[in-house]
Amino acid sequence: MNIKSAIPKHVAIMMDGNGRWAKRKLLPRKMGHIEGGKVLEMICASSYKLGIKYLTVYAFSTENWNRPRDEVDGIMHLFRKYLTDSIEQSVKNDMRVRVIGNREGFDKDLVNEIDKLEEATRNCKGLNFQLAVNYGGKDEIVRAVNKILLLKDRKSVISTDDFSSYLDTWEIPEPDLFIRTGGEKRLSNFMLWEMAYTEFYFTDILWPDFNEVELIKAIEDFTMRERRYGRIEE
Ligand code: FPP
Repeated sequence: MNIKSAIPKHVAIMMDGNGRWAKRKLLPRKMGHIEGGKVLEMICASSYKLGIKYLTVYAFSTENWNRPRDEVDGIMHLFRKYLTDSIEQSVKNDMRVRVIGNREGFDKDLVNEIDKLEEATRNCKGLNFQLAVNYGGKDEIVRAVNKILLLKDRKSVISTDDFSSYLDTWEIPEPDLFIRTGGEKRLSNFMLWEMAYTEFYFTDILWPDFNEVELIKAIEDFTMRERRYGRIEE
């Protein structure tokens, strides 16, 4: 890898293009998500190998409930399966897993499974992996505001750092690099607050065709960028 500056500490990925990948192969859309799930596991391993400390992926948005029932059920099935099947492997790989998003409306047993996986991997020190499910950036911000409104000893003024501490991502640094596969060039309600200064990388590759080589390309592109955070070049 040709690296000029540090590799990103936190990479956020929008895994887009599963449906089109399946359509091209004359398969049902949910097959695209199944294949996408396998690619996700590979990318977790590659991220760790490449020295990325935090990886956050968008698996299901607050808007995705509007998709056909069969597709929603398919993704939720993958999610449930991931929660139960991945505990042993995640601990073995020293990977800490967090689930971000709105848990209201999830069945109690699903919330228990999420808690179980998070708890089992709490002390893992390798890759920090965040899975965004029933996640929306606006929803996360509004939930944070509502948490603050409910505080008994609420301050009359808060700072941006105070505010960040009420978000689902309170424990993790903001993303350095955002990768969106599938050719679309928008944020689609993903980590609106957290990505104020994130570098964006878009690729036409459909998520099920994404791999370590493509990840390295995105990282190399990132390492060529100059990040000024609103300052001027000196
Ligand atoms: C976007 O592609 C992808 C999704 C909405 C779901 C992503 C989910 C996975 C990769 C599997 C998740 C795994 C777990 C463990 C929950 P799209 O369907 O919008 O594709 P399209 O733009 O081609 O229609």
